[in-house]
Amino acid sequence: MTAAQVPSIEQIRGAWNGIARGFDEFVTPETTVLGKEVVRRLGLRPGTRLLDVAAGSGALSIPAARGGAEVVATDLAPAMIERLNARARAEGLSSVRGRTMDGHALDLADDTFDVAVSVNGVSLFPDMARALTELVRVTRPGGRVVIAAFGPVETVEFIVFVTSAVRAVVPDAPPLPTSLPFQAADPDVLRGRLADAGLREVRIDTITWETAFDSVQHLWNMSTASNPIGAKLVAGLSDAQRAEVTRVLEGMLRERSAGAPGAVLRAGVNIGIGTV
Ligand SMILES: C[S@@+](CC[C@H](N)C(=O)[O-])C[C@H]1O[C@@H](n2cnc3c(N)ncnc32)[C@H](O)[C@@H]1O
Repeated sequence: MTAAQVPSIEQIRGAWNGIARGFDEFVTPETTVLGKEVVRRLGLRPGTRLLDVAAGSGALSIPAARGGAEVVATDLAPAMIERLNARARAEGLSSVRGRTMDGHALDLADDTFDVAVSVNGVSLFPDMARALTELVRVTRPGGRVVIAAFGPVETVEFIVFVTSAVRAVVPDAPPLPTSLPFQAADPDVLRGRLADAGLREVRIDTITWETAFDSVQHLWNMSTASNPIGAKLVAGLSDAQRAEVTRVLEGMLRERSAGAPGAVLRAGVNIGIGTV
C-alpha cells in the first residue's frame, strides 16, 4: 500500500462508526466467544487493571469485567464506545469505563495497567509498531501485553466463503484481502513485532475459533458488518447479483455440512503474549 492509499485516521474512524450498529448486532455476539477465550487464558483476578485497545463494542471488555477486572475500554470510533457502554450498563457492570481514543497515541499514563489487550485491533492499524509501543508504555513492569490477530486469510473461512461467492458472481470483485488486517497473520511476524516493542518471554499460541452459522443470512450479516472491507465488498452488488451470491453461499454451506442449511466455519487466530 502506498502512502497515498493509507486512509487517514478520520477516514478510519468514519468507516468504523458507519458499521458500528451492524457490528454490535451481528459481530460482537460472535467475537465474544473469542474474547472469552482470551480472558480465560489471562487468568484475571478481581481488581486486575485491564486495558482493551480497539475494543469494538465489548467482545473482550465485557467478559473481562464479568470476571472481576477493572476495565478501561478504548476505541477510535465513538459509536463503538457508545454501544460498549450500553452493554456494560445493561449488565450493571460499573467496572468498565469506555473511552474514545486513538490506539496509536493513548491518552493514558505510563505503567497504569496489569494487562493490556487488543483483539483484531492493533493488528489492523496502519502503524502497528507504534500502537504496540503504546501498549507497552501504559503497562506496568511485569505486566502482560496480549495481541490476538487472525492467522493467514485462507484460514479465516467466513471471509473466504463470502469473498469467493462474490467473485463467483462478479469475477472482477476484489480478491481476498491480504494487506493491513493480515499484517501479523504469520506467528513469526507477530512474535517479532512483540519482541521489537520490547516485550520479554513472548509466546504465540495458535487457536481455532469456530462460529456456527445457522443460515446464509447469518453468515452474510456477520461478514459484511465485521469490517469496512466486508461492507465495501458487497456495497456495489445489484439485487440480482446479491440473490445469486446468496444462492452460491447456500451451496457452499450445504456442501460443508452434508446438506444442512448452516455450517460451522473456522478461523485461525494467533494469540501473542509478552511480559513488560
Ligand atoms: C475488528 S474490530 C475488533 C473489535 C473488538 N476488539 C472485537 O474483537 O470485537 C476493530 C476495531 O478497531 C477500531 N479501530 C480502528 N482503528 C483504530 C485506532 N487507530 N485506534 C483505536 N481503535 C481503532 C475500530 O473502530 C473497531 O472497533
